[in-house]
Amino acid sequence: MATAQVQLQRGLKGVYIDTSEASFIDGEIGKLLYRGYNIHDLAENCTFEEVVYLLLYGKLPTRKQLAELDKTLKENRSLPKGALDVIRVVQQAHPMDVLRTAVSALSAFDPEAADLSREATIRKGIRLTAQAPTIVAAHDRIRKGLKPVAPNPNLGHAANFLYMLQGTEPDPEDARTLDVDFVLHAEHGVNASAFAARVAASTNADLHCAVAAGVATLKGPWHGGAAEAVMKMVREVADPERARAYAENLLSRGDRVMGFGHRVYKAEDPRARHLRERSRTMGEKKGHPEWFRILQRFENDIMAPYRAKGIFVNVDFYAGSIYYLLGVPDDLFVPIFAMGRVPGWTVQVVEQFSNNILLRPLLQYIGPMDVPFVPIDRRTG
Ligand code: CMC
Repeated sequence: MATAQVQLQRGLKGVYIDTSEASFIDGEIGKLLYRGYNIHDLAENCTFEEVVYLLLYGKLPTRKQLAELDKTLKENRSLPKGALDVIRVVQQAHPMDVLRTAVSALSAFDPEAADLSREATIRKGIRLTAQAPTIVAAHDRIRKGLKPVAPNPNLGHAANFLYMLQGTEPDPEDARTLDVDFVLHAEHGVNASAFAARVAASTNADLHCAVAAGVATLKGPWHGGAAEAVMKMVREVADPERARAYAENLLSRGDRVMGFGHRVYKAEDPRARHLRERSRTMGEKKGHPEWFRILQRFENDIMAPYRAKGIFVNVDFYAGSIYYLLGVPDDLFVPIFAMGRVPGWTVQVVEQFSNNILLRPLLQYIGPMDVPFVPIDRRTG
């Protein structure tokens, strides 16, 4: 088949690989639903914990169901000593590499690591959802020579992360902003990292393997790494008046402006709306409106002509400024995305297992054919 004409779908653009009940995206009109619920309703009215329940169990929880999930999440926030030891050993690495390594290490301590049943996979997904913030916060403290802060059972998921990271209880509005951010990042179909998780699951590898693959794939700046790159860009620009020259220089080199564009959305990324508003209000509240002004210059002026090409701001564009204003170090921006996405990876893996099939596409071979073998002593280099 080497020379035969094949239909190449580079980047799997436009290819459906399976069915899903987890989320629906209409990229032409910027619509996103989790389990049928509009992301705007969820971002405005739900906590991350409610969305975790919705994604994993398929319906919004009652108060009792939410309380039970909340209790389970809180009970599973602490890390086994062995996982903390691993974090200490690799503390110099990028936090995403540490998170990936710690997720792998946690499989050694999880009593159900190899259990592929739906129930066990959901239980493990809940444990990993609870543990991911502790990994990231503990690592940040360890690398700074500080003692990790024990989880606080009186705080919700987002507030507790900020507490473990900074050692003080966060302002409730700050915590709610991060909570909304987690809601917005929780699930997004078969994006690159979820696809990687599904590929791992398609071999009947377990959830820890799949989530480690998801974390690995999320790291790149074309996926989860964009928020960090946006904030780096905004800090280098420093003044809205310098934004145009900066962007023109970037684009003339054929580079992309991070935080713009999306494989599926060719209209507004509905998630960006909430982060835009929260970036603005948080910037004003904390006395740093300048970052928002620079971001707006990119969105409404410099990159406005790109809308005709279907390039709009994506979820990462305003997220970085929020994390920055929350006092989060730049290299934790991607791990925050990962923390929010654990339930999404879990539901994707649950779906993959429910009707499993090996994910194994083809490559069109374009190299030489039937080359005569040359023994090593007769090779000329
Ligand atoms: N800045 C400038 N030009 C862009 C950008 C951008 N951010 N994004 C796409 N383009 C151009 C691209 O160069 C191409 O131009 P041409 O047709 O002349 O070659 C055209 O738009 C189509 O782009 P594409 O590469 O076919 O789009 P894609 O679907 O393969 O890539 C993307 C999607 C997200 C990788 C890309 O838009 C990008 O690199 N954006 C910047 C990184 C970023 O913000 N990533 C976060 C994505 S949202 C969070 C998540 O879910 O991961």
